[in-house]
Amino acid sequence: MTSHVWQIAGLLEDIDGRLHVDGNDAVTLAEKHGTPLFVFSEKRIRHNIDRLRKVQDVIGCPLKLCYAAKAMSTMGILRAVRDAGCDLEVNSGGELWKALQAGFTGEQINFNGNSKEVWELELAITKDIYAIQVDSLYELSLIEETAKRIGKRANVSLRLVPEIASDTHSGLQTALVTSKFGMMPDEAFAAFREHRDSPHLDICGIHLHVGSQNPDPIVYTQALEMLFAGLKRIFSETGTKLKHLNIGGGFPVDYLRGQSELDLRDENKQMLAANFEPATALDSAWHAIRESIGSENASQLFEDLTILLEPGRSIIADTAICLTTVRNAKQRPKPESEIQNPKSKIEKDHWLLTDAGFNILLSMETYKWYYHLISAERADEPHDFPYKLAGPLCDGGDVYFDHEGQNRLPEYRLLPRDINPGDVLALLNCGAYSLAQASQYNGRFLPPVMLIRENGEAELIRKRDDFKDLINNDL
Ligand SMILES: Cc1ncc(COP(=O)(O)O)c(C=O)c1O
Repeated sequence: MTSHVWQIAGLLEDIDGRLHVDGNDAVTLAEKHGTPLFVFSEKRIRHNIDRLRKVQDVIGCPLKLCYAAKAMSTMGILRAVRDAGCDLEVNSGGELWKALQAGFTGEQINFNGNSKEVWELELAITKDIYAIQVDSLYELSLIEETAKRIGKRANVSLRLVPEIASDTHSGLQTALVTSKFGMMPDEAFAAFREHRDSPHLDICGIHLHVGSQNPDPIVYTQALEMLFAGLKRIFSETGTKLKHLNIGGGFPVDYLRGQSELDLRDENKQMLAANFEPATALDSAWHAIRESIGSENASQLFEDLTILLEPGRSIIADTAICLTTVRNAKQRPKPESEIQNPKSKIEKDHWLLTDAGFNILLSMETYKWYYHLISAERADEPHDFPYKLAGPLCDGGDVYFDHEGQNRLPEYRLLPRDINPGDVLALLNCGAYSLAQASQYNGRFLPPVMLIRENGEAELIRKRDDFKDLINNDL
């Protein structure tokens, strides 16, 4: 077994030159099920959930860990998350329905979203879910009206605009006054005063989310400060003791895994290589805040207080790879700019066209997201030959480099020499926001998904679409 920077002991390994996932030969899986193929690890899902649960040790309050289903919600994955003892955050009535089908109880579910429809609210209220996160005053009155009509009381939590900027990708910022989510704190606090005695609303918490893939833990200190200031203010103005504070998700995943030589913009590199322990990030912030709150009156606010986290990416991203086959290859003269480049030793561009495009990895196009690529069958060989990589779609943006020339992705991917059509490659860290955002663009089938169970057995948890899936709902 040779060691590599991308290796994760016991999970992703090169055994006799072939990539293995939890002991399963990736190429054999690709031969059996075809590509593109997502392969997830249940063991890794549990490992990531346990890592996040360590936050419980530093806060001393009950922790409610809710996996953000939007990151990946194939039923087999939802069930694996449930079996690992984790609760769920959903973002639509569809995800809520899937959660119930997967066996989550209402008490285990938290419902976000900024454009909720009445039927979604009815479902959430009927199932007595843990909390509906409210996005606006309008939505709060809609929830109250809906709960009254069906004769129930809705558990709600108000989503605040924290005005916390993060050094993540601009599309992943959610906490600015210019972002579309949540309500201004003053509006929210006024709502607590006005609706305190509503028989149809239990306003039991406040919520914020500081965006995804945050490279700097400081945003969590700022988030906690804001939530605690809210907790105190609501108590002093209304006498209401909140039942929960929800810190959202956003913990980063190291997508580069030591590929420091990559030719990428510095800020991109820092964001993609971010890596810190969630428990460590929250530890010092939590203690500083508890001390600053100090007074006896305020300490009673911690009694019966639950802290919520809603991580998606940090639970699921590094649990999966996407296997793809090279379907075409060609050579082209190099562009003038590359011929001048002293580092460029190859005379022609060697193109490889794979079967994994932005139809299954949308962020590769929208956010120029980097997924590290290796050869699955020649994992032990030097990856030192530069290729231009592209997917199968009839779209010039379906490439593995930054076609807008902004240097947000490397121009070339390094693989062993003489990669040919038929060779199987693996894109790493592909579990989050991949299949969940996939489409049938160009009449392409949504791919199958394997889950390697705790006992090492590979189970197909989603079959590949077939022809009828392409026209299923067309009338
Ligand atoms: C409200 C909310 N909570 C949780 C998440 C999950 O974020 P992440 O996958 O970065 O942990 C998101 C995603 O952006 C979100 O919008």
